[in-house]
Amino acid sequence: MSRQRTFDLVIAANRLPVDRVVAPDGSSEWHRSPGGLVTAMDSVMRGREGAWVGWAGETGEAPAPFEESGMWLHPVPLSEEEQTTYYEGFSNDTLWPIYHDVIVPAHFHREWWQDYEVVNARFADAVCEIAAPGAKVWIHDYQLQLVPAMVRARRPDVRIGWFNHIPFPPVGLFAQLPWRAKIIEGLLGADYLGFQRQADAQNFVRAARQLGGCATKGETVTAKGPDGGERVVRASAVPISIDYAGLDELARSEPVQERAQEIRESLGNPDIVMLGVDRLDYTKGIRHRLKAYEELLDEGVFVPPEITFVQVATPSRERVEAYKTLRTEIETTVGRINGTYSDLGAPAVHYLHQSYPREEMAALFQVADVMLVTPLRDGMNLVAKEYVTCRHDEGGALVLSEFTGAWHELHQAFVCNPHDIEGLKQTMVRALETDPKEKRRLMRALRRRVCEYDVQRWADRFLSNLESAPQRPGRSKGD
Ligand code: ADP
Ligand code: G6P
Repeated sequence: MSRQRTFDLVIAANRLPVDRVVAPDGSSEWHRSPGGLVTAMDSVMRGREGAWVGWAGETGEAPAPFEESGMWLHPVPLSEEEQTTYYEGFSNDTLWPIYHDVIVPAHFHREWWQDYEVVNARFADAVCEIAAPGAKVWIHDYQLQLVPAMVRARRPDVRIGWFNHIPFPPVGLFAQLPWRAKIIEGLLGADYLGFQRQADAQNFVRAARQLGGCATKGETVTAKGPDGGERVVRASAVPISIDYAGLDELARSEPVQERAQEIRESLGNPDIVMLGVDRLDYTKGIRHRLKAYEELLDEGVFVPPEITFVQVATPSRERVEAYKTLRTEIETTVGRINGTYSDLGAPAVHYLHQSYPREEMAALFQVADVMLVTPLRDGMNLVAKEYVTCRHDEGGALVLSEFTGAWHELHQAFVCNPHDIEGLKQTMVRALETDPKEKRRLMRALRRRVCEYDVQRWADRFLSNLESAPQRPGRSKGD
């Protein structure tokens, strides 16, 4: 029997960077997984020797571990039922709404919670199996909040960090969770907890104090260890970013620039192209943006075919009821707008419910005169950072919701409150009408920010915070 490979850096995220997609004829292919977590962590892990523990996106037996671009991918299985209870249920129909301001109601089911515990334990086992002595273990996101304490109980020698890619809710909302104390306890198994915004870190510290009964001071929480001893856990903000250099280079490449021209031509060379790119999620404010656009058409402020709006909406969590409802609403609205304002061969809205390769996204970003990023709540929103990165021509304008993590860094964007439809309409018009010289100045500043704070810098900051997190008493390695 071959010896189990072990790694000094192990990351665990619900999804692997690739999903296995099985065709009806039984053949299988690997596709890139959706979402910002994968975009960011894929570029971080490519430069480092490490392992990635995650779900391969299909139910049943997990594929055998394998190597991909220098990364060791270690699949964790989910049964059909766990997909419903742990993934679609507890992760995406309980936690996701609670952590995003309850934009839709959260559902609470004890069986979902039980499977959340079971699957978290499975992830913890997989991590412990492949973590080398004294390894750094970096756990990601809301699906795996119990894993830090579970790993700590089995492997006191490793250093444990957790990063939350989504917001952490205010204590009043978090308090609704019947399992809130267990979640706090699970997270406090880590040495260091990273959040997108300072407000998220503060929300966690407050929850640990008010609901977990822990002593807190500034960014630190005093937690009880499994042996009854006390440990100090730090919680702070490290906003995530993207691979600026890689995407900038891709956007400047000839094929991408040619493709951008082709796209503009195939849209009928309109004067103005507006663009939205999101997972089809109720957090993204797609309905609000369509409403604002439709009203501007109604008022004759926007007149197709001089203007067109391209909405790319990646399929997401399609079996969850709130996502089904959202899809129906969006598609009905797009149909209504197009029925009223399109001409033959010139739709007022191009709606694309598909995923595209990075090259195509980079080309699309270069076509967009105005990029609409209007979430009602979003941990970061990497699309905003990707858009400015692709604008090496310093053209375009970014309309950005104040409810995104990105807004806390990208102050030169045209800020909007997506709930305020009148204000959103005015911001869309202002983004178009502002003097091009001024817009170039703003775009330059936005690009500088993303260039300086790129994803490698984020990862280095996270790992160095993990490294320097308060030492635990009785650590078995490196004492
Ligand atoms: P979230 O993580 O909530 O999905 P982000 O904006 O942080 O939101 O990240 C989304 C990521 O998915 C970005 O890297 C974006 O380019 C990518 N993406 C979004 N829509 C598509 C699509 N239709 N095809 C390919 N990639 C997409
Ligand atoms: C967000 C979450 C990720 C998640 C992604 C895609 O980025 O923070 O954890 O992987 O959305 O969602 P999905 O449910 O398809 O994994």
